[in-house]
Amino acid sequence: MEHRIVLAGCGNMANRWLDYVITRDNAEIVALVDISEDAARKKAEQYNLSVPVFTVLKDAILKTHPNLVLDVTIPAAHKDVVTQSLNHGCHVFGEKPMAENLEDAKEIVAVAEQTGKNYTVMQNRRFLPSIRSLRDWLNEGIIGKAHTYHADFFLGPHFGGFRDMMDSPLIVDMAIHTFDQARFISGANAKSVYCYEFNPEGSWYKGNASAVCIFEMDDGSVFTYRGSWCAEGFPTSWEGDWRIIGTKGTAKWDGVHLPTAEVVNKDEKGFFLPTEKVEAPLSWSGREEHDGCLDEMFSSIENDRLAETDCRDNLKSMEMVFAAIQSAKEGRKVYL
Ligand SMILES: NC(=O)c1ccc[n+]([C@@H]2O[C@H](COP(=O)([O-])OP(=O)(O)OC[C@H]3O[C@@H](n4cnc5c(N)ncnc54)[C@H](O)[C@@H]3O)[C@@H](O)[C@H]2O)c1
Repeated sequence: MEHRIVLAGCGNMANRWLDYVITRDNAEIVALVDISEDAARKKAEQYNLSVPVFTVLKDAILKTHPNLVLDVTIPAAHKDVVTQSLNHGCHVFGEKPMAENLEDAKEIVAVAEQTGKNYTVMQNRRFLPSIRSLRDWLNEGIIGKAHTYHADFFLGPHFGGFRDMMDSPLIVDMAIHTFDQARFISGANAKSVYCYEFNPEGSWYKGNASAVCIFEMDDGSVFTYRGSWCAEGFPTSWEGDWRIIGTKGTAKWDGVHLPTAEVVNKDEKGFFLPTEKVEAPLSWSGREEHDGCLDEMFSSIENDRLAETDCRDNLKSMEMVFAAIQSAKEGRKVYL
C-alpha cells in the first residue's frame, strides 16, 4: 500500500514524525501545511522536500489528493484538522491530546465512525520495552492480583509556547500520557475520580500545572496520580515513577529501566514476611516511542484493522482527563 501524506503542523514535534516517514519506502509526503507559511517552508527546506506548502488544510487535500493526514498541530486545532481530513476521505494519525474538551473528542470519534476512516492517536509512552515488560509481568501474576497503582510525575520544563497559556497544561497535555499508561498497565478503565488541581506559587504557567488525582478503576483497583510540571529538582522520568501493589508483593518502575519487584513467600510466618527481589524479563522487542506507535499505526491501515491507540480506545483515556478537570472544578468525586 502506498501512502500519500499531508503533514499539518510544522513545529517541533513534526521533526519526530518526518524523521519516521522519510524512512518508509511506501510513504511519500505530498504537502506540508501550517498556518504559518514560513514554518511550512522552513520544514520543507529542512527535510529537502520539493512539495507544495499550504496555510489551509482543505486546499492541500483538494490539490494533492492524500490518503493520510498527519496532525501535528497544537491541541486547540486537532478537532478541525482531524474532522476535515476524515470528511475528505483520509485516514488520520495525530498527536495527543485528541482535543481540548470531551465534547470535541466525542465528535471526532463520531466522524471517524461515520466516515469509516481510521483516526489513531500518538501514545508513544506505551511503546517502550520496559512498560510492555511490566504489563506482561503483571499479567503473569508476579505480584499476585495487582490492586493499587501509584504514579508520581515531577518535572520543571520551561517550554514557552501554547502550554504556558492552557487552563490545565499538566492534565490535558501531559497527564493524558500517564492516565493512558495506567489503563495500559492495569488493563482496566476508570469509573470515578477525585482530583485537586492547582497552580503552585512561582508557577510560570497561566493555568494549573500541578494536580493530585484518585481514580477507582472498573476492576476494583485504585490508581493515584501526583503530578507537577513546575517542580524544580529531583525530576522523575517523563514516563513517571510507578509503585504497583498486589496480593503477593510490590512492583516498581522508574519509567526508564526494567521494573523490579519484591515478592513475599506466603509460606513463611512473621511480623514482616521475607521478600525476594526480582527483575522483570524483557518481553518486547518492538521499536520505541514514536517509531513503535507509528509502526502500529501504519500496520493498522495496511491490514485493515483498528490500531491499539485508535480514537475509540483513546477516548477512554480522554474521559479520565476531563473527569479529573470536572472534579477539580466542582470539588467533588466525578463518575465516568
Ligand atoms: N507525544 C509526545 O510525546 C509529544 C511531545 C510534545 C508535543 N506533543 C504534541 O504535539 C503537538 C504539537 O506540539 P509541538 O510541540 O510541535 O507544538 P509547536 O507549537 O512547536 O508546533 C505546532 C505547529 O502547529 C501549527 N498550527 C497551529 N494551528 C494549526 C492549524 N490549524 N493548521 C496547521 N498548522 C497549525 C503552528 O503554527 C505550529 O507551527 C501537540 O498536540 C503536543 O501536545 C506530543
